[in-house]
Amino acid sequence: MSFAEQVESLKQSALADLRAAPDLAALEQTKGKYLGAQGKFTALMKQLGTLPKEEKPAAGKLVNQAKAEIEAALAERRTELELKAAQPKEPTDFTLPGRRRAFGKLHPLTQVTEDIVRIFRKIGFAVADGPEIEDEYHCFDALNTPADHPARDLQDTFYLADDKSGAAPADASKPGKMPSMLLRTHTSSVQIRVMEKQQPPVRIIVPGRVYRRDNADATHNPTFQQIEGLYVDRNVTVGDLKGTVEYVFTELLGDEVKLRFRPHYFSYTEPSFEIDFSSPMVKKMGKEWLELAGCGMVHPQVFENVGYDPEIWTGWAFGFGIERIAMLRYEINDIRLFYENDVRFLKQF
Ligand code: DAH
Repeated sequence: MSFAEQVESLKQSALADLRAAPDLAALEQTKGKYLGAQGKFTALMKQLGTLPKEEKPAAGKLVNQAKAEIEAALAERRTELELKAAQPKEPTDFTLPGRRRAFGKLHPLTQVTEDIVRIFRKIGFAVADGPEIEDEYHCFDALNTPADHPARDLQDTFYLADDKSGAAPADASKPGKMPSMLLRTHTSSVQIRVMEKQQPPVRIIVPGRVYRRDNADATHNPTFQQIEGLYVDRNVTVGDLKGTVEYVFTELLGDEVKLRFRPHYFSYTEPSFEIDFSSPMVKKMGKEWLELAGCGMVHPQVFENVGYDPEIWTGWAFGFGIERIAMLRYEINDIRLFYENDVRFLKQF
């Protein structure tokens, strides 16, 4: 075989081998087999030197052309195989449903609270806040709640150990004891804190967490949420209270709602009422009326305690539990569900 024929035949077999390489690893091997230091084509190039001088230029040109062709074929096959390697092993099924990002949600109690706040904002109420760790004065005394009131009993309220000594809390019903700190039993304490700082008129609502020593059952939980309302101005009447409460609860729970004001006792209001509520939902629960809130006209003594003149200023206040509203609205039958953080429950709202 002439040198030219050898070049041609080796080129053909190299091109065939490269094009047949099934993957990138095989391609690299094939490259080595022909173009590597020990490769067949490299060996052929070495033979160039043994040719007679006058044949060398033509033979050299031939070898270079063949090498260029092989390298071109190598690059082309490499691109093909790289593309192939980058493709998914299995074909994409474009009919599959997409993967959605999971969005968080507001807790149902937060949703109800935000709704209540929105409704009150429309009629000019601002949101106020106060501490959850409260002193007895703001939680009870300033609200005209006597030392022997049951709410002040150790059995009903979480007192904190007196700061440094770590001693058991003072018994509030015994005169002469230091006032203790406690977890507030209601948001009514914030009425006092706001009136101490601000001159009338006052129009606030106070959403917040409160604490009582209740055992958890379907309708009780040791922590729960309340909303307090306070309105102080000149010439405020029970009519204003009724009108406001009716507006808020129909906005919140629908037009079919009926409300009833029943005389009651709270030490910080006079007269005081309990607000009962009726709706098709309540009837479905087998009841005619459900207690919803406490309210009344702010007691003159409370005004005295914060330095407002009760001869000039009158006002009303109310307080109710947010869980009860949420339970009515979403037809939930157990208050504990709000606090268990079970995503199967929370996802429904
Ligand atoms: N603080 C009362 C409670 O926790 C609710 C309440 C009743 C608040 C009458 C008031 C009110 O502001 O005037 O049960």
